[in-house]
Amino acid sequence: MGTKIVGTGIALPEKVLTNFDLEKMVDTSDEWITTRTGIKERRIAEKETVTELATKASLQALQNAGINPKELDLIILATLTPEKRFPSTACLVQAKLGAQKVYSFDISAACSGFIYALDVADSFIKAGKAKRVLVIGAEKLSEAVDWTDRSTCVLFGDGAGAVVVEASQDSSDVLASVMYSEGSLEELLYADRCGYIRMKGRELFKFAVRAMEEACREVLNKAGVSPEEVSLLIPHQANVRIINALAEKLGLPQEKVYINIHKYGNTSAASIPIALHEAISEGRIKRGDLILLTAMGGGLTWGAMLLRY
Ligand code: ACO
Repeated sequence: MGTKIVGTGIALPEKVLTNFDLEKMVDTSDEWITTRTGIKERRIAEKETVTELATKASLQALQNAGINPKELDLIILATLTPEKRFPSTACLVQAKLGAQKVYSFDISAACSGFIYALDVADSFIKAGKAKRVLVIGAEKLSEAVDWTDRSTCVLFGDGAGAVVVEASQDSSDVLASVMYSEGSLEELLYADRCGYIRMKGRELFKFAVRAMEEACREVLNKAGVSPEEVSLLIPHQANVRIINALAEKLGLPQEKVYINIHKYGNTSAASIPIALHEAISEGRIKRGDLILLTAMGGGLTWGAMLLRY
């Protein structure tokens, strides 16, 4: 049994917060943010809840897949900003979609959340335990950001992305994956007692490049694919300098790397499904292409996944 990607969707809040807006809020500058991170603006959910963003992205993905929510048998939602401690945001989305008799749960793996969730969906399908799975990455990071801390508040944004995957007898879009965690490095990136994101940026930067490079090489080895054969790298969008360093280490030219961080900042678990949807919509991905996904985030967690789209 294989896993096919049959639909993608995204939802982004209306409000745009630019670097120039941030200049009026904290001691920062467009020049600092752009050169250090590549971010120009991000979206902020003033009115939308994380459940609403996740539901909107899911409806688009289901529509693109031509699948009715009632046909789903599993919903996995990755987030570090769940709407409530419980029920899970996956259950809240399930109710809004009107999906019935469906197995629903959240995954907490910060910025690696979406690839963790897609890996779990793939495992359920390959084990014969699910046929149609909705995999969502959704975040309202504006609620987890200390808006007085310039070292973090300039980095994050809100949004959601969703992918519908289906069991297939013929072939699999998921060729290989590796997922890891190292809780002893918690102090590099965590939520404090108030729930605000705290990080040691410089150490994380180095860890992120090394961990994602190793995970990418491992997943390529597993699938017997060389880096030159990769059509597009879709990395988690945390910092354009991390992405460029990773691409250089893997020997991938700029045109084989998808970057949209300038528009949305770091949307944690939502960043890869948003980028995947946009890359497909823009024609950057065609059926048959080899797509390499990789992420690193709080936990610490990291991993990589190779797709044959
Ligand atoms: N505006 C102006 N100056 C600033 C700002 C700001 N917004 N933020 C920090 N500075 C200052 C610092 O105070 C410091 O000043 P000093 O030299 O006088 O002490 C200087 O800029 C340099 O600070 P650094 O932290 O060393 O800057 P760096 O080049 O490392 O960039 C950044 C910081 C962007 C956070 C980078 O380290 C990074 O991207 N790290 C990785 C983030 C990441 O991958 N996170 C993982 C995923 S997130 C998740 O899972 C939720």
